[in-house]
Amino acid sequence: MEIKITRTSKPLPKPDSSKLGFGKIFTDHMCICEYSTAEGWHNARIEPFRNLSLSPASMVFHYGQEMFEGLKAYRTDDGRILLFRPDKNVERMNNTNARLCIPYLDPDFTLNAIKATVKIDADWVPSEPGTSLYIRPFIIATDPFLGVHPSHTYMFIIILSPSGSYYAAGLNPVKIAVESEYVRAVKGGTGFAKVGGNYAGSLIGQQKAEEQGYAQVLWLDGIQHKYIDEVGAMNVFFKINGEVITPSLEGSILPGVTRRSVIELLRDKGFTVSERRISIDEVYQASENGTLEEMFGTGTAAVISPVGELVWNDKHIIINNSEIGPVSDMLYKQLTGIQWGKIEDKYGWTVKVI
Ligand code: COI
Repeated sequence: MEIKITRTSKPLPKPDSSKLGFGKIFTDHMCICEYSTAEGWHNARIEPFRNLSLSPASMVFHYGQEMFEGLKAYRTDDGRILLFRPDKNVERMNNTNARLCIPYLDPDFTLNAIKATVKIDADWVPSEPGTSLYIRPFIIATDPFLGVHPSHTYMFIIILSPSGSYYAAGLNPVKIAVESEYVRAVKGGTGFAKVGGNYAGSLIGQQKAEEQGYAQVLWLDGIQHKYIDEVGAMNVFFKINGEVITPSLEGSILPGVTRRSVIELLRDKGFTVSERRISIDEVYQASENGTLEEMFGTGTAAVISPVGELVWNDKHIIINNSEIGPVSDMLYKQLTGIQWGKIEDKYGWTVKVI
């Protein structure tokens, strides 16, 4: 499908890239494409960033038929702009679409749309160390209808946001609260998919954690409240007695692109990596007997985020003296080195936009 381009006549001033934060500033353009049962996906265009005009009866407002993705564009020192494994996001988009009864999007079209949108706003890709252009593709159900049924019309939109660190702490270890009351997802639900509803249901846990001075929530499995799932904005890894462990994908966890890349990087470097169930009690016991070496989160927005402290009911688990550990440090350098084109990409993970 061809993408029609209308450039803005009023480009905005670029922000100071040392003060970006995450997800607060948007670029000059956006990509929009519509779907109807009769026409399929059609009318793809890039146009000036603007507010949407939608019926208040649009289904997305009532039943949350919505999906999103998150990936980044990176500026290299020699002036290229790279995406990191965008094929994985595009593939995951269609897995989410299938779960939410949203129509399939042609992967080649989706990747082209992402590249074309980044290209138009290439000047917005920041160059300050640690910054990137966060890309947020999403789909909303637009039928003006209050019956509970999959919509017949949708909008697929891509917006871009120059961003710095997701956490105010940057690469400093974050403090995380283990949630024992509320749950995020169960097998058979939508935990493996990237849907807004997963995040809406997690806000109460997030609010509780923040009130206690913690940055994020560590979610336990929805049935036994025993096994570790994920943090919501990131997947998690533990290093216990030399073994690197991350929860296995059993339907309630997001299959993160950074998670997959970290597993591949670690195995390539000779680490033993297990994708298996790990209980919060195993983590606590490891901390008690001195074998809990490191914990870190992985995500597109969060990159590699060392965890310095977990609070689980009345138990405080301090990890690696609340300092960044050697594995987290090595992974951050390797991953961002590949993403920013500083380290040779022997895995073929980066895709050039310019
Ligand atoms: C991402 O890492 O891209 C995410 O989508 C997490 C987020 C909710 C900020």
